[in-house]
Amino acid sequence: MNGPATDTPASAPADVSPEALLAGIRAARDQGLAAVAVAATGDELAQVESTLFGRKAALGQIKQGLGSLPPEQRAAVGRALNEAQQDLRAAHAEAADELAASARREQLQREWLDLTETPPGPERGHLHLVTQTTERLEDVFVGMGFTVSEGPQAETDWYNFEALNLPAAHPARSMWDTLYLDLGERTELGDGEGGEASNVVLRTHTSPVQIRVMEVQPPPIYTICPGRVFRRDTADASHMPVFHQIEGLVVDRGISFADLAGTLEEFTSAYFGKAISSRLRPSYFPFTEPSAEFDITCVICEGSGCQTCQRTGWIELGGCGMVHPNVLANCGIDFEEWTGFAFGFGIDRLALMRHGIDDLRDMYTNDIRFLSQF
Ligand code: PHE
Repeated sequence: MNGPATDTPASAPADVSPEALLAGIRAARDQGLAAVAVAATGDELAQVESTLFGRKAALGQIKQGLGSLPPEQRAAVGRALNEAQQDLRAAHAEAADELAASARREQLQREWLDLTETPPGPERGHLHLVTQTTERLEDVFVGMGFTVSEGPQAETDWYNFEALNLPAAHPARSMWDTLYLDLGERTELGDGEGGEASNVVLRTHTSPVQIRVMEVQPPPIYTICPGRVFRRDTADASHMPVFHQIEGLVVDRGISFADLAGTLEEFTSAYFGKAISSRLRPSYFPFTEPSAEFDITCVICEGSGCQTCQRTGWIELGGCGMVHPNVLANCGIDFEEWTGFAFGFGIDRLALMRHGIDDLRDMYTNDIRFLSQF
């Protein structure tokens, strides 16, 4: 592409009649517009720009000739010159905008990434059934206004037992087959309050997280504590030494046993659907008084009786009760002002029942054929 020629009639200084100048202006304008129109890149346009508006530009040279016109003819030619100049500037600016926009479009096209693309090859993995179950449980409780709290898996004796109204040598400690940690010389984990290094255990339930929450958060408290727990058990179809629990804790003014029953019923239908309901049976836990076991309608037969529920129509889900005043006191909460309830149940067992799995160990052998079903 060539820039506008500088040898147009307009640039010939010999003929300076107004007609010749006006013709030259028209020619320079048309040539300029044509050059702008064919510039295909920013570089080409920049080159055109210098021939249009630079020192040797055709219109510039005509302007120089303006001085030799008689004054009464100058105005008309000058006006035509300005107009031509403005037309060229406008056309140039528009072309520059368009080129910039199309360069941007091209860049976007080049750098486009399909984020929904599924890579070819083996199937991608997914969350483990227990993780999926935990997340669903969390969703349901968060929907009911609970927060989610977590705590350490290695706990001092204080948090796992003593603060929960289970002093040393309390007979009910045998309800939990406990794994003790041998920390050797390391004593930094024992943090006063009964937590001697030799008394560090792998938590046997998620109840110590209740204590940790109540220690730092003044009531009202509405929280759930999901997590991994440990017991000295031999793995069989319904037991694992490592499994998962979810604990619920509510502390507020005027909380009664009816609130506990209502919350569990609400949770049961939100999680399992309207066909499944809950019931409470008297029980004993050192940290709740009164205490109860809570059952739900058998999710397999929906109450009509089957092998899973031993023909009772009910399956046991977990324990619950009103938080014992000693536990509130251990956390510095005034039990005259505040009352609360707690409940806890196993997540793995829940997943097992929901999916009709008959051996808990299958969850942890990491057989992809088993896991990929969920
Ligand atoms: N922590 C008890 C257990 O593991 C369950 C429970 C939690 C019972 C909260 C009552 C209240 O057996």
